[in-house]
Amino acid sequence: MNPTPVNAQSIALAAELLRQDKLVVIPTETVYGLGGDASNPAAVRKIFAAKNRPVDHPLIVHLAYPKQMADWACDVPNQARRLAAQFWPGPLTLILNKKNSVPLEVTGGQSTVALRVPSHPAALWLLREFGGGIAAPSANRFGRISPTEARHVIADLGDAVACVLDGGPCMVGVESTILDLSGNRPVLLRPGRILRSELEAFLQTDIAVKTAHTIRAPGMMAVHYAPNTTAYLCPSDTLLENAREQAAQGRRLGLLVFERHDADWPDHPTIALPCKPETYEPELYRALRQLDQAVCDLILIEQPPQDEAWQAVNDRLAKATVQGE
Ligand code: TXA
Ligand code: MG
Repeated sequence: MNPTPVNAQSIALAAELLRQDKLVVIPTETVYGLGGDASNPAAVRKIFAAKNRPVDHPLIVHLAYPKQMADWACDVPNQARRLAAQFWPGPLTLILNKKNSVPLEVTGGQSTVALRVPSHPAALWLLREFGGGIAAPSANRFGRISPTEARHVIADLGDAVACVLDGGPCMVGVESTILDLSGNRPVLLRPGRILRSELEAFLQTDIAVKTAHTIRAPGMMAVHYAPNTTAYLCPSDTLLENAREQAAQGRRLGLLVFERHDADWPDHPTIALPCKPETYEPELYRALRQLDQAVCDLILIEQPPQDEAWQAVNDRLAKATVQGE
């Protein structure tokens, strides 16, 4: 199957497919999503089947307008309204207490629902045309790297979907920041482009960070986002030495480094990424896929700085790599 260019005709067709309980892949500013009618349990079940995703892992419901929050959440706290007004459309997902009418299939059996208004023009266009909520996890098979280009989706999901809308490369490139507002105080469930400190400054309140073992979120599982090739994180100062050692043992390496390196690796596929998170993030998943396809024995990834701006990248890299080596 080929990706479909975004135009009035393909958007109308995609909306019609959604009405027929079929799955449509939608570009968002973060990653491509595998979309189905969120109000229809049959469509939602197809999403889980296509992704091979365990049914208790909840999906994000994408909306065209912030005011639609009230269709899905039983109470919309003031903090949610304020955040939506400030950060939507954009890469922020809010967890709210769900209305009874929201199918449990979407929420993985939980009493909360995840909502987001994406900023990609194609996603917004389709959402407006369709009118309802579109449930969409990242359009990859469960546990694999999220797709940031239409061709990644075709490679991963192929015939499982009726239509793949091609919205070009995703501009943010890492999944949305997830903030849980369903309890007494806000909790960050997944770091993303919108930083916890930004949200804290805006809300004028502390935001707790949920720890992995208390969470039912696949994005928090250690095996998530992994390439097939074993990957290791390596601090900058030992990267070259480490790579030479591995190469001396006859291993073929894939290297993911920062652009500032001028080392020459003639026999080793090397991808150099920008030194800023805003430009690194949109290239990360494409780079991991490319290195995965280069048939290496292992991938060495240069460790980014530890400061907050790199938190989303560090979170995803921790999940893509073997720890404690
Ligand atoms: O940027 C994104 O968020 C992308 C695009 C397509 O919007 N979507 C995405 O979906 O990353 P997915 O399914 O790969 O990740 C959604 C995350 C999961 O970690 C899921 O567990 C969490 O959201 N989530 C959804 N509903 C939840 C809920 N009610 N409570 C806690 N976590 C929830
Ligand atoms: Mg995902």
